[in-house]
Amino acid sequence: MEIKKVGVVGCGSMGGGIAQLCAQSGYQVVVSEINDEFLKKGMGAIDKTLARSVEKGKLSQADKDAIMGRLKGTTSTKDFADCDLVIEAAIENLELKKKIFAELDGICPPNAILATNTSCLSIIKMAVATKRPDKVVGLHFFNPAPVMKLLEIVKTIATSDEVLEASQKFGEVLGKTTVVAQDGPGFIVNRLWIPFLLHCIKLYEEGIASREDIDNAIQLGLNYPMGPLTLADMVGIDIVKFVADALYEQLKDPRYIVPTLVDKMVAAGWLGRKTGKGFYDYK
Ligand code: 3HC
Repeated sequence: MEIKKVGVVGCGSMGGGIAQLCAQSGYQVVVSEINDEFLKKGMGAIDKTLARSVEKGKLSQADKDAIMGRLKGTTSTKDFADCDLVIEAAIENLELKKKIFAELDGICPPNAILATNTSCLSIIKMAVATKRPDKVVGLHFFNPAPVMKLLEIVKTIATSDEVLEASQKFGEVLGKTTVVAQDGPGFIVNRLWIPFLLHCIKLYEEGIASREDIDNAIQLGLNYPMGPLTLADMVGIDIVKFVADALYEQLKDPRYIVPTLVDKMVAAGWLGRKTGKGFYDYK
């Protein structure tokens, strides 16, 4: 099961980051978006990130050109026809993901691995939309994908050992440390992180401390790279709500109930960095 060419469905912040990382690691990459406008935006963001690395002297212009040369943007799923691995990083909607998997199953070579970057949805439900459930696996990257050191590999009851092994090897080529989790609610990281994050938000909602003090307490007191509210703004408040709601739906554990403040922020469009306002202002 040799992986030479990788497809990525979706060129938003996660899909774009994954596509960039794969191209940086030497793979030929095809990345798709639903229209030209989104594709241009996603490819532009990758180009800008790499240009910043050139400016900082961390990447040569020739290497940047080579990485961009390995990346092909498309709006047609047919371009995945010769991919050995396709990673779906579309929005978190199970019905949409099932449709994407069924379509990829009809287009990709019979041996190709079909992966999802879902944060919290059931992977076996996507796998059964294909005729190759043994070749469906979760490859859960963390934001920003080119930088974060972890790749969570999620194995369903149908994933074959061969596909698991190929996924672990792929993770190594990307320079990641891999962990393996079963296809259960939130896998490892989100199952543990979400209750902690919601608790931090509750503290802020109850006025126990200011947003800055909560962030400083965790960042400096526990040596985290950034405070939890800053991180929530980076991930997106809508994503935090979606993941927490999905986990509550599956686990019925009150630790996954989002504070009212999160509902209000989503209703107001305060989704974090991407909308210019979340717990903090970014305008
Ligand atoms: N894309 C690509 N590269 C990025 C980037 C991005 N969006 N953001 C930062 N970087 C790179 C920078 O270019 C820089 O690279 P260099 O060292 O080669 O110059 C490096 O990351 C460090 O960036 P900065 O110097 O600008 O800033 P920091 O040192 O503060 O690091 C950070 C930024 C990597 C985001 C760090 O603060 C961090 O690790 N934060 C925590 C992130 C985290 O926890 N992510 C997980 C979120 S949960 C998730 O994704 C799961 C999902 O299911 C919800």
